Amino acid sequence: QSLVYRAGVLGSRPTVPTDFAELERRAQAEMSPRAWAYVAGAAGEGTTARANRVAFERHRIVPRMLPGRVSRDLSVELLGRRLPAPVLLAPVGAAGLVRRDSDTAIGAAAAELGLPYILSNQGCSPMEDVAAAMASGPRWFQLYWSTDEPLVDSLLARAEASGAEAVVVTLDTTMLGWRPQDLNLGSLPFSQGIGIAQYTSDPRFQEIVAERVAAKAAGNGGSDDVKVTLGALRSLLSISREHPGDLRTNLRSPVPRAAVETFLDIYSNPGLTWDRLATLRDRTSLPFLVKGVLHPDDAARAVEIGASGIVVSNHGGRQVDGAIASLDALPAVRSAVGPDLPVVLDSGVRTGSDVVKALALGADAVAIGRPYVYGLALAGRDGVRDVLANIVAELDLTMGLSGIGSVAELGPELLATAP
Ligand code: FNR
Repeated sequence: QSLVYRAGVLGSRPTVPTDFAELERRAQAEMSPRAWAYVAGAAGEGTTARANRVAFERHRIVPRMLPGRVSRDLSVELLGRRLPAPVLLAPVGAAGLVRRDSDTAIGAAAAELGLPYILSNQGCSPMEDVAAAMASGPRWFQLYWSTDEPLVDSLLARAEASGAEAVVVTLDTTMLGWRPQDLNLGSLPFSQGIGIAQYTSDPRFQEIVAERVAAKAAGNGGSDDVKVTLGALRSLLSISREHPGDLRTNLRSPVPRAAVETFLDIYSNPGLTWDRLATLRDRTSLPFLVKGVLHPDDAARAVEIGASGIVVSNHGGRQVDGAIASLDALPAVRSAVGPDLPVVLDSGVRTGSDVVKALALGADAVAIGRPYVYGLALAGRDGVRDVLANIVAELDLTMGLSGIGSVAELGPELLATAP
C-alpha cells in the first residue's frame, strides 16, 4: 500500500484524483446528466446524505506517538475468509449508466485487490458473467426480495452456483425512496432496460414474462394492476431470452417503458416480514447478512432469525431523507449484537481516516459505494481499483501515524468528539 503513496510523491500521475472532492468533480464532468442524477443523487433534500459526512467529521482521531512499529497489519477475517483490508465494494445497481461492461470491470478490479464485491441484484451483467471476470476473487450477492418466491429461490441458486460466499438481503428498499434528481428527469435507469440483467438472465423471470404473454394473448389480461401491452411484454421476453443482460443490445432495442411495469411489479416486496426472511435459513446454504439496519432492535431481530452479519447502512442517504447517519447508528447496533457478529458499515465512507473511525466505533469492515463508481467513470477498471487502493493506502498511513499496528487495536479510545 505504501507503494501507492510513494508513486504519488515521486511524481507519476495518478489515474484518479486522490481526494474525494476532486474525484467527484472530475467524474461529474465525464458522466451524462442522467447518470450523475442517479449515482450522486440522494433522497429528499439530501439531509441524510449530508448527515453521513457530518457524523464522520464530528469524530476526531487522537493519534498516539512512537509505537515503534514500521508496518501495519490491515487484514481482517470476515465470514471465515481473510481479507487484505477491511473494505468491501457495496452493491451498486445500474452502473451501466456510467460505462458499458460496468459490473465485469468492477468485479475484475475487486478481484485484483482481493476485496469482496457485493454484486447488485440490479446489476448490468448476469452474475455468472461477473463471476467469470472475477475468477477466484471473493464475491457476495445482494438480493432484493421479490414478490415472486420462486424467483427468490432461482436467484439464490444462481448465487450459490456462481461462487458467491454470502447473500446480503437489502431491507431498506422495499420501495424506491423519494429521489428528486431522478424524478425531475422523469426517468429511472430501469425504464431504459439498465439494471435488470439479473432478471432478464433468470429462467424463472423468463417464465413469469412468458406466462404473462400467454395470459394477455388469451385475452384475460393477466393481473389488473399491470397495464402492459402484449407487444411490450413480447419484447421483454425476447430480450430476456436472446440477449440476457447485454446492455448494448438492450440499448439498441430498449425495453418498452410499459414492460418495465412487469419488472417493478416483482422486483421487491413491500410486504416482506421477519418471519418470511427467516425462511432463508432453509433456502440457501450460504450465510446471509441484512443490509439497511439502523435500529438496534432490528439488529437483534436479524440475529434471532439467523443472520450471519449486519450491514449498518442508510443506502447512502438514498432512501429515507432525515434518517439517522449510518455512523451514528453503529454503536447501538454493535451493542445489540455483541462483540462477535460481523458488522459492516456503509454510507458516507470516503477516506482511509473514515475507515479508522468506523472500525473504532464497532464495525469490522466498511463498504464503499459512490467513490468507486466515480473511479469507473474516469478510468474504468483501473479507476475502480485505484480509488479503492487509495482509500486502503490512506487507511494504512492513518493507522501508522496514529500508533495503531493492526485493525484489532482500533477502539473508541482512539476517538474524541469535536468540540
Ligand atoms: C446503491 N446502493 C444499492 N444498495 C443495494 O443494496 N442494492 C443496489 O442495487 C444499490 N444500488 C445503488 C446504486 C447507486 C448508484 C448507489 C450510489 C447506491 C446503496 C449502496 O449499496 C450503499 O449502501 C451506498 O452507496 C453507500 O453509500 P456511499 O458510499 O455511496 O455514500
